[in-house]
Amino acid sequence: MSEKALVIVSGGSRGLGEHLVRALLADGHTVATFSRGKTPFIDGCMAEHPERFYWEECDITDAPRLDRFVAECTRRFGPVGTLINNAAFATDGLFLFTRRNDMHKALAVNVEAVMNLTQTCLAGMIRARKGIIINVSSVSAVRGIKGVAAYGATKAAVDGFTRGLAREVGSQGIRVNSVALGYFESAMSTALLDSDQVKKIVERTPLKRVGHIEEMVGVIRFLMSPAAGFITGQTLLVDGGLTC
Ligand SMILES: NC(=O)c1ccc[n+]([C@@H]2O[C@H](COP(=O)([O-])OP(=O)(O)OC[C@H]3O[C@@H](n4cnc5c(N)ncnc54)[C@H](OP(=O)(O)O)[C@@H]3O)[C@@H](O)[C@H]2O)c1
Repeated sequence: MSEKALVIVSGGSRGLGEHLVRALLADGHTVATFSRGKTPFIDGCMAEHPERFYWEECDITDAPRLDRFVAECTRRFGPVGTLINNAAFATDGLFLFTRRNDMHKALAVNVEAVMNLTQTCLAGMIRARKGIIINVSSVSAVRGIKGVAAYGATKAAVDGFTRGLAREVGSQGIRVNSVALGYFESAMSTALLDSDQVKKIVERTPLKRVGHIEEMVGVIRFLMSPAAGFITGQTLLVDGGLTC
């Protein structure tokens, strides 16, 4: 078993999750992740780090499967030290036209499944009397953004969950924070916004650019580090000043 406790990252096959997995493996962590589909990146990690990387095909909304995934991870690597709730589903378009099915899916993936996975990992953290939970949120949770009302509502729920849970588990050495991210390039954001919309975001952003995925990874690494040992129950905005 690696000296560094196990990190579970939901949705580590591409986008921010892929960059997180890569950075955490480079930092010497043992990393487990899941997604519905396998990517060449996952194949590469399995080949390069068979002793401290694990991936399973799993839909986050399948609660029994998710529980089995966590059980298999802890059987292989010991208790979960850090959980990063990264996987999400984004709704797109004006709320009036948002399909009921998409609203339901956003709630199921972004809220219910986040709570399920957190609860499953939390039991071991409480036994160990230590743990770190980082929930990936969005600027749309804290500011109104046209076209993502339902998605923003689910991310606001995640921020509320972060605060409530931090209150409950702080005395047991567990820190819970969320990162409300601004736009960065990924499959999700490219599907959501066209170049005109990105241009408008850049104009409204004091730093006059979109975020780099490494900057998002950097903030999450900071929240995992001892330097962030006194931070809990917070939503950290990482948005180039868009919401200031
Ligand atoms: N991109 C942005 O500009 C932006 C801005 C603010 C916040 N965020 C947040 O940042 C996080 C990462 O976003 P991203 O842009 O990197 O997304 P992405 O490129 O779409 O990647 C999402 C990851 O989650 C997995 N996933 C999605 N649905 C899943 C499900 N039902 N079950 C299991 N795995 C699932 C995907 O794999 P499969 O599809 O194979 O399952 C993939 O690995 C999300 O929480 C998002 O809300 C993104």
